[in-house]
Amino acid sequence: DRLHAGVMPIYEPGLAELVASNVKAGRLSFSTDLAASIEGAAAIFIAVGTPSRRGDGHADLSFVHAVAEEVAANLKTPTVIVTKSTVPVGTGDEVERIIRASGTAAKFAAVSNPEFLREGAAISDFKRPDRIVIGADDEWARGVMQEVYRPLFLNRAPILFTSRRSAELIKYAANAFLATKITFINEMADLCEKVGADVQDVSRGIGLDNRIGSKFLHAGPGYGGSCFPKDTLALLKTAEDYDSPTRIVEAVVKVNETRKRAMGRKVIDAVTGYYGGGDVRGKRVALLGLTFKPNTDDMRDAPSIAIAQALQDAGAEVVAYDPEGMAMAAPMMPGVIMAKGTYEAIEGADATVLVTEWDAFRALDFARIKTIAKAPVLVDLRNVYDPADVKAHGFSYSSV
Ligand code: UDX
Repeated sequence: DRLHAGVMPIYEPGLAELVASNVKAGRLSFSTDLAASIEGAAAIFIAVGTPSRRGDGHADLSFVHAVAEEVAANLKTPTVIVTKSTVPVGTGDEVERIIRASGTAAKFAAVSNPEFLREGAAISDFKRPDRIVIGADDEWARGVMQEVYRPLFLNRAPILFTSRRSAELIKYAANAFLATKITFINEMADLCEKVGADVQDVSRGIGLDNRIGSKFLHAGPGYGGSCFPKDTLALLKTAEDYDSPTRIVEAVVKVNETRKRAMGRKVIDAVTGYYGGGDVRGKRVALLGLTFKPNTDDMRDAPSIAIAQALQDAGAEVVAYDPEGMAMAAPMMPGVIMAKGTYEAIEGADATVLVTEWDAFRALDFARIKTIAKAPVLVDLRNVYDPADVKAHGFSYSSV
C-alpha cells in the first residue's frame, strides 16, 4: 500500500521520483500476489534481506529460502532465478535444491548476481557500475542475464561471467577488501597522530599509486552501515566453516569495533583539554550527523551509536541533529536529546562533534557557533575542515 502511494521504505536520493515515473509509464508495479507476478517472467530477482543471525553472526538465509519455496510452488514457464541478496557461498546450490525438490516441470536455472551499489548513491552506482558480475553455470541462463543487462552493457559496463560460487564470494571479498582499506588508513591515522604526520597527506601520497588507488582511503570514526559490518562477519563464518581462516578480516572487524567507541574518548580529551582537566560529567556534547554516512537515513552499525554511548557512560549530556536520520536514530539512542536543527543542537554545548559529513555541516557558521556554544570546541571526525582555518576562528579543533 505504501509503495502504491509512492512512499519509499528508506530515504535514498532520487528513488521516489524514479519509482513514480516508472509506475506512471506502466513499467513498474507492486503486488503481494507472487503467483500472478512471476507468471511468464524471464527472470525473477530474489532481493530480500540477509541480516546477521542473532547469536553467531552468520547470514540469516531464512527469507531467501522462504521465497525460493514460494517461487518453486508457482513456477510454470522457463525462468532464471537470480539471487541479488548478499548470500554466503553455496546459497545458490540450496536455492536450486529447493526448487528441484518441489518437483516443478518448468525449466529453470539459479544464478548469482551480486549488487555493489552504495547507499546514498544507489541509483547512479546501479546505472554506471564498475562491473556486472553474473555467476551462472548454465549457457541459457547467461544469455537471459546478458539480455536483462543489455542497456547497462551498452553503457560499457563490463559483464563478468563466473561460476555461481565465485560470484557469491566476489561480493564478500569486495566488501571485506574495502573494509580492510578503510581500517588500514584508520590505523595509519592513529600512527600519524603519534608521530606528528597528517593522514590526509599520507592518504593522497599512497592513493596516487595506481596499484593502491585513492578511493576508500578516507580516515574517520570507523565504517558502519548495512553491509561492511554484517558481510565481514559472515565471511569469517564461512572461512571458519571451511577451516580456512581469514586473519586479516578478523583483525579488521576487531579494530573497527573498538575504534567507534574510542572516538568517544577523543571527544572527552578535547573537552578536558579545553577546560584544562576534569571530566565530562555534566558537560553537553552536540553530535552533528548520526547516520553511518550522508544521504541516507540508515542507522545500522553507525559509529554515532557507540560514540553517544561512550559519552553518556562518562556522564556527558548528548544532544544530536541529523538531516534525515533522527526518526531511525531516536529509539536506538536512549537519553540522547534530538534537536530541531544544527544550531539548536550546538546551543550551550561544551563541544561540537562532526560525526557524519552531510553537506549541511560542510560550511558551519563559526562566528555564530562562538556566540551560542558554551565553548568553541570542534571535533571533526571526518576531516572536513582545514585545521588552520578553524583555529583562526578561535576554536580548539581536533580531527582524525
Ligand atoms: C558498501 C559498498 O561500498 C557497496 O559496494 C556494497 O554494495 C554495500 O556496502 P555502503 O555501505 O552503502 O556501500 O557505503 P560506503 O560508501 O561503502 O561506506 C561504508 C562505510 O565506510 C561508511 O560508514 C563510510 O563512512 C565508511 N567509509 C567509506 C570511510 O570511513 N572511509 C572511506 O574512505 C570510505
